[in-house]
Amino acid sequence: MDKKFYITTPIYYPSDNLHIGHTYCTVATDCVKRFKKMQGYDVFFTTGTDEHGQKIQEKAKEFGMEPKAYVDKIVANIKKLWEALDIDYDAFIRSTDEVHEKNVQRIFQKLYDKGDIYKGEYEGYYCTPCEAFWTEAQLGEGHTCPDCGRETHLTHEESYFFRLSNYKDRLLELYEKNPEFIEPAFRKNEMVKNFFETGEGLEDLSVSRSTFDWGVKVPFDDKHVVYVWIDALSCYLSALGLGTENSKMDEFWPADVHFVGKEIIRFHVIIWPAILMALDLPLPKKVFGHGWILFDNDKMSKSKGNVIYPEPIISLYGVDALKYFLLREFSFGSDGSFNIEKFMQRLNSDLANDLGNLLSRTVSMISKYNDGIIEDKNVSEDVDDNLKDMAVSVVDEVEKAMEHYHFSNALESIWKLIRRTNKYVDETEPWKLAKDENSRDRLLTVLYNLAETLRIVSILIHPFIENTSLEIRKQLGIKADINWDDSKVFGLIEDGTLVEKGNVIFPRLDINEEIEKFNAENEALLKSRINAKKSEETSNSKLQDIKEEVTIDDLEKLDIRVAKVLEVIDHPNADKLYVLKLKIGTEERQIVTNLKSKYSKEELTGKKILVLVNLKPIKLRGVESVGMLLAAEDENKEISIASTLEDIKDGAKIC
Ligand code: MSP
Repeated sequence: MDKKFYITTPIYYPSDNLHIGHTYCTVATDCVKRFKKMQGYDVFFTTGTDEHGQKIQEKAKEFGMEPKAYVDKIVANIKKLWEALDIDYDAFIRSTDEVHEKNVQRIFQKLYDKGDIYKGEYEGYYCTPCEAFWTEAQLGEGHTCPDCGRETHLTHEESYFFRLSNYKDRLLELYEKNPEFIEPAFRKNEMVKNFFETGEGLEDLSVSRSTFDWGVKVPFDDKHVVYVWIDALSCYLSALGLGTENSKMDEFWPADVHFVGKEIIRFHVIIWPAILMALDLPLPKKVFGHGWILFDNDKMSKSKGNVIYPEPIISLYGVDALKYFLLREFSFGSDGSFNIEKFMQRLNSDLANDLGNLLSRTVSMISKYNDGIIEDKNVSEDVDDNLKDMAVSVVDEVEKAMEHYHFSNALESIWKLIRRTNKYVDETEPWKLAKDENSRDRLLTVLYNLAETLRIVSILIHPFIENTSLEIRKQLGIKADINWDDSKVFGLIEDGTLVEKGNVIFPRLDINEEIEKFNAENEALLKSRINAKKSEETSNSKLQDIKEEVTIDDLEKLDIRVAKVLEVIDHPNADKLYVLKLKIGTEERQIVTNLKSKYSKEELTGKKILVLVNLKPIKLRGVESVGMLLAAEDENKEISIASTLEDIKDGAKIC
């Protein structure tokens, strides 16, 4: 097969479970795969997870876990979600996959050898949650991140840089010669304006970090890990098996389209093509930047408690209801607001009233008036031509809309036909025809036309809502394999086909009741996720930075005793030190301590403290110190001298 198509979703951060916003892009990508497959393409679809970086490392630490163990759990949930949604991906690439890590090192080395990567020093404002560096000019008010609005911090560090500035002219030429490289067009205008005209997007790019270590090591400098974008973007190549014997690079690279959210377009249309140019690899044909799903016009966030997860929608209303809503309600290139009431309304009007009703009345009438047999008697009237013309022309509209990923328009065209067909029922009034024996052939012709239109609908909706498509075909008794071109012809159902009455495909919902049900389910999931995390936190809350294991014999070597502070004097040669005169059982001795800034002489005099008495004596600023007192220090450098719970004789041994 020589028609190849490569499509990708971004690789998602597994810092938390994915919500409906992430689901949106994956569902859209899956729909394109199914659509292209039906059009005879050999399609490769990549998704995956972006697992390195400071944010993940910090999140894992919060739970007392190693980063890999932490992401493993979330990745398992993500895969479960895609399975529940029947997402037909070909590769799920994890940036921690060994083969990918090797690719990243090879790519980094190659760019370094070519002189496209050099070592320098980075100063910038870093936003940890977004893993992005910003220049001062790019920041929002109060040094906040222009993407997420959170506070950034100024960082200096040694870093490797990619010579992005060298690629400015070739990038501009790319956009000029390929006006469809960035879609929708308004995103391209935004990009060029923001990053090229101000020049900010084309400063050399910092591509390594030395302040954390959860990442792929720079092959020739293990103090550094490869900073996230070279690592993340090259996943699109690793997913095709780059660097393995089974590489599909020749077959599928360059990508036909990368679907990405609007905030990461710039990485895909500036940095990614420049890296590929430096590697002498062909460039992706298109980057499509979709809008965001907001919640009641606000950004979804767990801290605001307004996150919508897909799981409750799937369990209450099914996969197809969710897919249909996502692809129909929002225009792919623009932002849209999720609202559960809108979801219910769509379900009721489009799926239950329009489509569900058309199927159930068609199958019922064929069962009732002709024992379930579909037969064409060819007794046509003008109104039939109108329906037939529309039925075979919708496919054109769908194809045109899908060329530009206008999912919503494609579905709107299909629903125009569905609504037209419902009107055809009202116009032809089969129940009246059934009363008159002379109209029998006309009646069967009308019923045939209804079944035939539904057959065409079942093909057109197949890439969007496959389960429903198959259910329609089952109820119509169609045994033939589904084939895209069959939507272009009217009259393919064979005479004698027997319908199979089935369940109502989308029952009408009582909106108020359902909203309550949904909210309860979504909140329960949110709570259970928070609780699961809490208990994970508790069960994994091991001590951090614990020292090497010792045995009881090691402990036996230490002689720790209770000591009474007899006197506190200033160190003669050091302003910050005290000399403590101690009584330890029968012996008196002195130790030097740096606790002057914390305790006054009065606070210490007369106290019982703990002292390691068999530590080799040393001189501190000319004064001998025989032993060391014990104290506790927390991460904020708060100090407290160790003592015993009750008063006990000095000289007592710690055992
Ligand atoms: N790991 C990077 C992508 C690397 S691609 C080489 C990343 N991950 S992410 O998990 O933060 O976001 C992944 C995608 O989810 C982005 O395209 C982002 O726009 C999308 N979405 C996150 N929230 C969204 C909505 N509320 N609505 C729609 N898409 C949203 O960025």
